[in-house]
Amino acid sequence: MTTPSAPPTFRPSLRGQTAPFRVMAVWAAAARRAEAGLPVFNLSAGQPATPAPGPVRRALADALDTEVLGYTESSGIAPLRERIAQHYLDWYGLTVDPAEVFVTTGSSAAFNLAFLSAFDPGARIGLATPSYPAYRNILHALGCEVVPIPSGPETRYQPTVAMLEDVQRHGPGLDGLIVASPANPSGTMLDEAEMAQIATYSAQQGIRLISDEIYHGITYGHRGTCAWSTDRNGFVINSFSKYFSMTGWRIGWTLVPRDLAGSVDALAGNMAICPPAPAQYAALAAFDAYEECDGHVAQYSRNRTLLLDGLRSIGITDLAPADGAFYVYADISSLTDDSAVWCARLLAETGVAVAPGVDFDLERGHRTMRLSFAGPQSTVEGALEALAGFVRR
Ligand SMILES: Cc1ncc(COP(=O)(O)O)c(C=O)c1O
Repeated sequence: MTTPSAPPTFRPSLRGQTAPFRVMAVWAAAARRAEAGLPVFNLSAGQPATPAPGPVRRALADALDTEVLGYTESSGIAPLRERIAQHYLDWYGLTVDPAEVFVTTGSSAAFNLAFLSAFDPGARIGLATPSYPAYRNILHALGCEVVPIPSGPETRYQPTVAMLEDVQRHGPGLDGLIVASPANPSGTMLDEAEMAQIATYSAQQGIRLISDEIYHGITYGHRGTCAWSTDRNGFVINSFSKYFSMTGWRIGWTLVPRDLAGSVDALAGNMAICPPAPAQYAALAAFDAYEECDGHVAQYSRNRTLLLDGLRSIGITDLAPADGAFYVYADISSLTDDSAVWCARLLAETGVAVAPGVDFDLERGHRTMRLSFAGPQSTVEGALEALAGFVRR
């Protein structure tokens, strides 16, 4: 008779213990309220309420009839890479070789490719906080060390060369730096000179710059500056999700530095074979839809004014300058020191859904919230009225 052996124990990986994106819980709670027939004013989502542009939807319909839609090259179909390269000439006056363009499954996949090709486990990556949580969480999953660079209103929530010099002086040097302009959640931007200074300094120091330019096109003053205007040792990451209103199509792109092109190609082929073919063929037509997309931006601009004025009139006056994207990042320290609890109460009692700041800044985000004005104007109006009642209670 054999004695039964102890059942094996299974241990989850430590790098898989990644923090969730808390706004998704807000999003789910708002959906449950809506299902129950209760009012919801959803300012939590960082996505347009509009569908993909007309030419994109028509191009998809055509592709279904005319294309096989099988696997494509890992880096994406040649016409799309050529069209993206043309976009850099049209918008920024930059000559980009289509061979430097990699089409990806949203910008999210581009981050994985950039981080994997550029950084080994233990690499130190500078990141201004508050910032988009996926940067921090993906880097954690890859075993990299995130070096937070706390940034506030003094520098428009952006890193500066002086801050980078300070980080370099007081520890082992950085291997990488992520910047986002316009940024999520603050909406603030680096101007042309600031971007050039950061790109130049990073190149001099051997710091691989990752420039997230996903909100380019959605700006309310000066247009975003492309990091490749200064230096091409880093990655530029962009997407069809925001300006082109195509979040669920899962299609984006990155400009890849020459020395990492082979590595990115091999990684992309192994990890996902290729980005989705239907979305690639459809995205070709996105560049015929600038006018439609600019129409969305005009509505965001109206919503932005409404929200900034409305918040100030309620007494929420400490607001990051919303230069671009579709967010207002607000200091609510006079109302709470626990933004997650406060935002949950706000939703439960009024139907207003916003993102607690702690998603974006683990230290100081307990006293902030992010409001998205990407939705319809009526949602912003309804939210402001309900929020005013809640705050004045
Ligand atoms: C700053 C920033 N970068 C990247 C992404 C990811 O976008 P996607 O993967 O849809 O391109 C988002 C999404 O909200 C974002 O806010």
